[in-house]
Amino acid sequence: MTEQSAPLTIAVAAETAGRVLAEVQRAVVGKQASLTLVLTAVLAKGHVLIEDFPGLGKTLAARSFAQALGLDFARAQFTPDLLPSDLTGSFLYDQRRAEFEFRKGPLFTGLLLADEINRTPPKTQSALLEAMQERQVTVEGETFALPDPFHVLATANPIEYEGTYPLPEAQLDRFLMRVAFGYPTAEEEYDVIARRVERRREEITLDQVTDGEGLRALQATVETVRVDPSIGRYCVELVAATRDHREVLTGSSPRGSLGLVLAARAFAVVRGRDYVIPEDVKAVARAVLGHRITIKPELWMTETSGLSVVDDVLGRVASPTALEGG
Ligand SMILES: Nc1ncnc2c1ncn2[C@@H]1O[C@H](COP(=O)(O)OP(=O)(O)OP(=O)(O)O)[C@@H](O)[C@H]1O
Ligand SMILES: [Mg+2]
Repeated sequence: MTEQSAPLTIAVAAETAGRVLAEVQRAVVGKQASLTLVLTAVLAKGHVLIEDFPGLGKTLAARSFAQALGLDFARAQFTPDLLPSDLTGSFLYDQRRAEFEFRKGPLFTGLLLADEINRTPPKTQSALLEAMQERQVTVEGETFALPDPFHVLATANPIEYEGTYPLPEAQLDRFLMRVAFGYPTAEEEYDVIARRVERRREEITLDQVTDGEGLRALQATVETVRVDPSIGRYCVELVAATRDHREVLTGSSPRGSLGLVLAARAFAVVRGRDYVIPEDVKAVARAVLGHRITIKPELWMTETSGLSVVDDVLGRVASPTALEGG
């Protein structure tokens, strides 16, 4: 375990977060809102599920965050034949020393891009999700701590085609946020091409803004952000409303309301504030709660989704006006 890092001032933390985002945006065109959410989740010590179609810049974004945050980067492709030990590592026999030695798998990194996690069977999925939750892996009775920071950006294809294993709700809950990138506007897409032609090569190398220790300090800063009781109550009411909703089979768990407050505090840091306002909660609510809601089966073929429920709930639950707009 690493020692607790000392928090930064809000001004320094916000400035650093801003520089990380700016650096990432040198590589990734557009996507300001999604990238801000990903950074927010990382500051909140969370993991992110990026659900979107191929070729929208997910890998590029993950790589760019790793570079700007100064984290080791690893990528694991979740194929149907991927085994849990391919992720965790395993004991190999060392002939020369005549003993078993633990060979670390790709989980031992700062930022892991777990690509297409819905293509791998449940056993391997749960090895990943356990490691995410516990920040350690156990192999043959021996436990190994993962690096700190350790973050997973997992991608999943939104279409459940044949041969995929959709993540069970209980496992989706482990992701602090689910974020979509979406298609670029025509202007942005042109910009992607223009920048590529301009730089005359495929890769773009970004400057490192901070490092593992710096990120831990940013994460410690989030813990200093004040949460007025009215904000806490507001989060509880929002989550409760997802459970009572007429279109909902199961709503968000308390892990959802905890995640909502934590993500709102991290968002406040990005915005340079040492206290949470209702706008912070609203800014993260769709990404934090959308994937924790199961819609009633009879509505599966309709437009109703976890996100539409969150939107509905945000529209109906009154926010604490005293703190509105800071
Ligand atoms: N918003 C964007 N800004 C800059 N480049 C982009 C953007 N979107 C896509 N690209 C470019 O398109 C190509 C595909 O991007 P990338 O490999 O990151 O996609 P992906 O979402 O990881 O796809 P897959 O799901 O197939 O892995 C890359 O060359 C990338 O640079
Ligand atoms: Mg990719």
